[in-house]
Amino acid sequence: MPNSLFRTKKIESILKEGSDEGHGTGLKRVLNVRDLTFFGIAAIIGAGSFSSLGDACFKGGPGVVVLFIMCGIACAFTAFCYSEFASRIPVAGSAYTYAYASFGELFAWIIGWALIMEYSIGNIYVAFSWSDYFTSFLHKINVHIPDYLSCSYQEAKKTFLNYAAQAPADQLEFVKNQANAELLNAWNNSPVLGSLKIIFDLPALIINILITTLVYIGIKESRNFSNAMVVLKLAVVALVIIVGAYYIDPANWVPVNEAGTKSFMPNGFGGVMAAVSGVFFAYIGFDAVSVLAEESKNPQRDLPRGMTYSLVICTIVYILLALVLTGVVHYKQFENVGDPLAKIFEVKNVGWMQLLVSVCAVIAMTSVLLVFQMGQPRIWMSMSRDGLLPPVFQRIHKKYNTPSFSTILTGMVVGLPILFTDKSFVLDFTSIATLFAFVLVCGGVLLIPRKEKVPGRFNMPYINAQFIFPLLILASLTVLTVWAPGYFTDMFNFDFSADPGYSANTVSFMDLATPKISAIVFWIACIILSLLALVKKYSLIPLMGVTTCLYLLTGMTKSNWAWFLGWLLLGLVIYIFYGYRKSKLARTK
Ligand code: ALA
Repeated sequence: MPNSLFRTKKIESILKEGSDEGHGTGLKRVLNVRDLTFFGIAAIIGAGSFSSLGDACFKGGPGVVVLFIMCGIACAFTAFCYSEFASRIPVAGSAYTYAYASFGELFAWIIGWALIMEYSIGNIYVAFSWSDYFTSFLHKINVHIPDYLSCSYQEAKKTFLNYAAQAPADQLEFVKNQANAELLNAWNNSPVLGSLKIIFDLPALIINILITTLVYIGIKESRNFSNAMVVLKLAVVALVIIVGAYYIDPANWVPVNEAGTKSFMPNGFGGVMAAVSGVFFAYIGFDAVSVLAEESKNPQRDLPRGMTYSLVICTIVYILLALVLTGVVHYKQFENVGDPLAKIFEVKNVGWMQLLVSVCAVIAMTSVLLVFQMGQPRIWMSMSRDGLLPPVFQRIHKKYNTPSFSTILTGMVVGLPILFTDKSFVLDFTSIATLFAFVLVCGGVLLIPRKEKVPGRFNMPYINAQFIFPLLILASLTVLTVWAPGYFTDMFNFDFSADPGYSANTVSFMDLATPKISAIVFWIACIILSLLALVKKYSLIPLMGVTTCLYLLTGMTKSNWAWFLGWLLLGLVIYIFYGYRKSKLARTK
């Protein structure tokens, strides 16, 4: 069994299956490079920039720009790797298919399983954020949805418990925050069925049903819809940047922190890294372009271009947005703010921009929902083709030429959890799983044999990492030892008894130890990779992709890891009892 877990698919056979002459997916080849770039932007700019950016600015201050640059670099390395795979294996399935050709079946399954987090669970966050902006837009035009029908049950419950745990004087302060007041109102005034309070996010559910229907009826309609939305959203984001720039006060870029000193990173680098889930989430989506391989006219040339163009455009947009946001108002004003782009204009009293931003946010997030809802069924379709999922997952609708069963199932996987999860949980879950998938994609490129350059196709430049990479790691270790002398000694210090923030009742030992354990694992991985680079003359770009994504993973908390590992375990059990036995590869070998 151990060997067969790592059975790989030959690239030639994947290509044959995915080709028009193969078993025929029935998907239409209609997309060009502009459509793919638009799909990328449609997937990238959404809830991350319109919603989670606020929390990221609050945690990291203006220094969050550094994290946007770091994530942009990590994603650029990853995009190169996706492009390399996409030019070699231009069939639907994304990272899942790539892993099948490099790491083998078990890892392919694990990636496919992790991608459910990125595509479906990520869409739950976007649907919640969509609902936030939609509801606030309705408020502005005097249409009111009851609070218990526009928030999640979990959020309302958490807020109530927080409120109840406070002293009366603090409770008064607590309800001054409008978001808290609305959630409390939802909890206290919801209808009750038996002992169950009826609280759920109705707009999030409705948009999920509408998007599922649109994806079900076909790619062409979805493409036109998506392209139009992208143009509009880029125009309004540009307006936010231009109008916002007029209100920038450079003093906000070096705000006074709790300790009374002026700093670009008021909460230190730790504060910046605490924002990693939200910032990385904003970048997720460029990789979704690769699932459209079988619908694009010239995938080997156009997929890499579409991915790269969309990533570059969005990185520039994010850096400018973060600079504008933290330049217009003091970073602390973003506490609990779910609509940061509208917030800056509220503070500056620019009413028309507030309204415009709300409308734009709704549009932007609709296009994100659309792209991810299209991506998930296509991945399942590939897994089903390989026998890892039942055949019904690859059923194509006769009239609409879309994966019908998988599309409806995706709608349910997004829709049902809307009833019992909340935003912060799904945000963390999505980011950790996606970063994990990115590490495996970059690692996969290291494993596939180098190829001859083919004109007209994407060719990843080969830079020999044999000496460069170990030297880079050595230089980083030296710089840290000289400039941050406590860094390494502190990393191995697990005695928290003197820590002022440590109280065994509120913060567990593992909460404090997780960042240290992650950092230790990261540096050990760097040393192992350096040795491998030295021996195997690895290519520098994918190696940097693995390293930068691993570094971002060090920002994840204990509970992120616990949930994610639990999810992987569940996937493993399903694989052993179904995929391993039914795998087509097993039957043909
Ligand atoms: N990057 C996408 C968003 O921000 C997932 O909504």
